[in-house]
Amino acid sequence: MKSNPFDLSGKNAIVTGGSRGLGKAFAESLANAGANIIIVDVDRNEQTEKEIKAYGVSCESITFDLANFEQYDDLVNSIVNKYQHIDILVNNAGVQRRHPSVDFPKSDWDLVLNVNLNAVFFMCQAFGRHMIKQGQGKIINIASLLAFQGGFTIPAYTAAKSAVMGFSKSLSNEWASKGINVNCIAPGYIATEMNIPLMNDETRNRQIMERIPAGRWGQPSDLGGAAVFLASPASDYIDGHTIVVDGGWMGR
Ligand SMILES: NC(=O)c1ccc[n+]([C@@H]2O[C@H](COP(=O)([O-])OP(=O)(O)OC[C@H]3O[C@@H](n4cnc5c(N)ncnc54)[C@H](O)[C@@H]3O)[C@@H](O)[C@H]2O)c1
Repeated sequence: MKSNPFDLSGKNAIVTGGSRGLGKAFAESLANAGANIIIVDVDRNEQTEKEIKAYGVSCESITFDLANFEQYDDLVNSIVNKYQHIDILVNNAGVQRRHPSVDFPKSDWDLVLNVNLNAVFFMCQAFGRHMIKQGQGKIINIASLLAFQGGFTIPAYTAAKSAVMGFSKSLSNEWASKGINVNCIAPGYIATEMNIPLMNDETRNRQIMERIPAGRWGQPSDLGGAAVFLASPASDYIDGHTIVVDGGWMGR
């Protein structure tokens, strides 16, 4: 009998920052492939939960600030006790702060590094321990084009995303033999709340659009296929890789 290598039926997937934006799109595409969704987000969005349940899977939101590292053990225990197995972890939650580097405040540097880097590593560690015991798991860390490029006025974000892409290879080296695939997705310029300042800046918006070969900003739904692929058996021999989903930006 033929089996579908992209089928996620019966899998349990955690999506951080899944209440809106790209996280919501990742959650929806995984749900569409059959996975139950657990959203871990500082904000709850009941409309998102409703839309995900419409795919015929379960969806719950856990309101949690990922900068509360001392509460990670409780988070893992409560999720694992309830679901027994966690098959997929999408570390998507992120924040952006923009200032010229000469003025970049330490408080914003710490915020961006805590949410975009430290939380990603310690979530991988916390759920990686559980996945290693299970002997299988898929971890997808959301990087950025800023893992490859420097950007303007976003040094903390660039530092965090470059590091996420780097340490994902380190984890992959240690965990690939244990049945855990650790990979990244690097989205290009996607129309979400995070990018409203760029879209509203006429000059930056024009410069960005001119450089994207696809000729448009990405939509959150453009990212779903890469997430399903990396969450599914179809990618079982892919480790430490970063899939760029950018309408061709990096090819210029
Ligand atoms: N939008 C883009 O163009 C783009 C491009 C490259 C990478 N990314 C990355 O994709 C991810 C999602 O971006 P987005 O554009 O959807 O952003 P967004 O601001 O629309 O959504 C971010 C989500 O993360 C949650 N969140 C933020 N801080 C949190 C915390 N401390 N604890 C728990 N949840 C928290 C928010 O509540 C929100 O639901 C981020 O990691 C971002 O860096 C986005």
